Amino acid sequence: MTTLRPLPEIPAHIHTILQRLHSASLVQEASITRDDYDSHSRDDLMRDKFIALDEDKSQYIYQLCRAINATQVIEAGTSFGVSTIYWALAVTANIKAGGGNGKGRVIATENEPTKAEKARQHWQECGEEVSGVIELREGDLLETLKEDVRDVDLLVLDIWTPMALPTLKLVQPHLRHGAIILADNTVKAAENYKEYLEYVWGPESGFITTTLPFNGGLEMSVYLPK
Ligand SMILES: C[S@@+](CC[C@H](N)C(=O)[O-])C[C@H]1O[C@@H](n2cnc3c(N)ncnc32)[C@H](O)[C@@H]1O
Repeated sequence: MTTLRPLPEIPAHIHTILQRLHSASLVQEASITRDDYDSHSRDDLMRDKFIALDEDKSQYIYQLCRAINATQVIEAGTSFGVSTIYWALAVTANIKAGGGNGKGRVIATENEPTKAEKARQHWQECGEEVSGVIELREGDLLETLKEDVRDVDLLVLDIWTPMALPTLKLVQPHLRHGAIILADNTVKAAENYKEYLEYVWGPESGFITTTLPFNGGLEMSVYLPK
């Protein structure tokens, strides 16, 4: 069980928005029944769902972004843009502190247009320090991340599990030495992450990796190729 304290760097009005969005996400998730899963395709069922990354994981990754001075972040799977708010705030803070030669961005990715639209509304509501550094790429991320990706400091894989390994392989040539990769739910969905985990755990992979004991597991890998 993680003890959560509000991050003092997050402005009060954005903290209030985040609390509202995390709560809405949790209420929604709790209302999904077994029957819903059985009677809908995943895409249909999830089309109007937040499924936001847990608050403690989001805070932890925010701190990682600040610790490594991340100014180039990629989020695979954006949904309504809740977790993106954290990475955007961290990148803005890092730029203000002199990182990235005054430049930085969070590349957000979402293939469901109604979700992308909602995400934009949430970022606008937060204001320029969030919306100003986000570049939302709409469509299948295996297409939208093919170009204009470089010097990636941190990659968040909060995506349907079959997409995790193809996404990592697509972005890998653009990871900087020491880049951090986070993959959500790797313990709970270990079976679906089998190939991903075999890949990052491989002794020659160039990654050193740890399974963090957050709810459902959070795999943190650092890219240190020889
Ligand atoms: C778990 S949710 C992301 C939650 C988000 N990170 C948050 O914390 O608010 C995963 C999202 O990935 C999107 N997605 C699934 N396949 C995709 C693809 N091929 N390209 C882009 N987005 C995709 C889904 O529509 C869904 O909204």
